[in-house]
Amino acid sequence: MKNAAAIAHPNIAFIKYWGNRDPVLRLPVNSSLSMNLDGLTTRTTVSFDPQLPADRLTLNGQEVSGAGLQRVTALLDRVRRMAGLSWRAEARSENNFPTGAGIASSASGFAALAVAAACAAGLELDERQLSRLARTASGSACRSIPGGFVEWQAGEDDQTSFAFAIAPPEHWDLADCIAVLSQTHKPTTSQEGHRLAQTSPLQAARVASAAQRLAVCRQAILQRDFEALAQVTELDSNLMHAVMMTSSPPLLYWQPATLTVMHAVVAWRAQGMPVCYTIDAGPNVHVICEQAYAAQVARQLQELPGVQTVLTARPGGAARRIND
Ligand code: DP6
Repeated sequence: MKNAAAIAHPNIAFIKYWGNRDPVLRLPVNSSLSMNLDGLTTRTTVSFDPQLPADRLTLNGQEVSGAGLQRVTALLDRVRRMAGLSWRAEARSENNFPTGAGIASSASGFAALAVAAACAAGLELDERQLSRLARTASGSACRSIPGGFVEWQAGEDDQTSFAFAIAPPEHWDLADCIAVLSQTHKPTTSQEGHRLAQTSPLQAARVASAAQRLAVCRQAILQRDFEALAQVTELDSNLMHAVMMTSSPPLLYWQPATLTVMHAVVAWRAQGMPVCYTIDAGPNVHVICEQAYAAQVARQLQELPGVQTVLTARPGGAARRIND
C-alpha cells in the first residue's frame, strides 16, 4: 500500500478561463489570473493498493461512480504512467465548506488529488509539473497548486500551459466575501460551458482582449491598486457572462438576487468603499474587498434580499502534502 494526503484551496478568478483550444489536455483559449481562498479547504487522501480491482472515490463520505470517478481515474492513470505503477487507488476527499452552496470544489479537489496521488506514487514533481497534472483534470485546478495570487499562462501545449504565483498570499490583504444565494438552480457544468463558449459571437472579442486585461490586472495586484483591480475584474466577469448568455444554447447563471448584489456592490464602491464583484458559473457573487472592510461588507451583504449566507476567505496558500 502507498498512501499520501494533501490539502488545497479553491480560487477565485479575476480574469476568467472560459473556453478551451484543446478540451482533452485543457489548453485554454486565454490566460487567467486568480487568488486562492484560505479557510475553504479540500483534504484528499490517496492509497494505491495492489488488492483493489478498480479505482474508488469517496466525496464527503459518499461513494462516487460514473463521470466523477472517470475524471479521477484519468488523473490517476497519468500518475501511474509516470510512476510505472499498475495498482488501483482509493481516493477520499472532503471539503470543509458547505457542499451544494455552489462553491466550485473542482479546483481545490483536483489540486489536492494531484498532490496526494503524485506523493503516494513516490513521484517527486515540482510545482510546474503538479500544476500541469491538475490542469488536465480541471483547468482552474492548475491555479490552486501555487499559493497566493496566481497566473495561468495559456501556453502552446501540455508543457507550456501551467500556473505560477505572481505574489504570495500576504502581498495584499484582500478578502472574498461570497454571497451564497438561496435560489440555486443546478447549473450547466463548466466542462459543458467551455465547449459552448465558441458558439457565442462575443467569444472572439473576449479572447482577443483578454491578454490586455490580464496585464492590467497583474499590474493592479502588484501595485495594490484596488480601483484598477475592481474595474478590470468586473469587466472581465461581465464579458464572460455576456459570452455565456449568448451561447447556443444560452447559459443564464444569474438569479434576481445576483443582480441585486451586483447593484449594491457598485453603489457601495461609488460611496468610496473598496469593493467589487465577480461571478463564476453559478448565481453566487464573489465580493472582493480590502480585509479591513470584510466584516462590514459581509454584514451588508447578509441584509440583502436573497442572500442566504456569506462566507469570507482571505488569500490562501499553495496545495501541499500533509501528514495523514
Ligand atoms: C467560470 O476549471 O471548473 O470558474 O476545466 O472543465 O473543470 P473544467 O472547468 P473549470 O472552469 C472554471 C470556469 C470559471 C472561471 C475560472 O475559474 O477561471
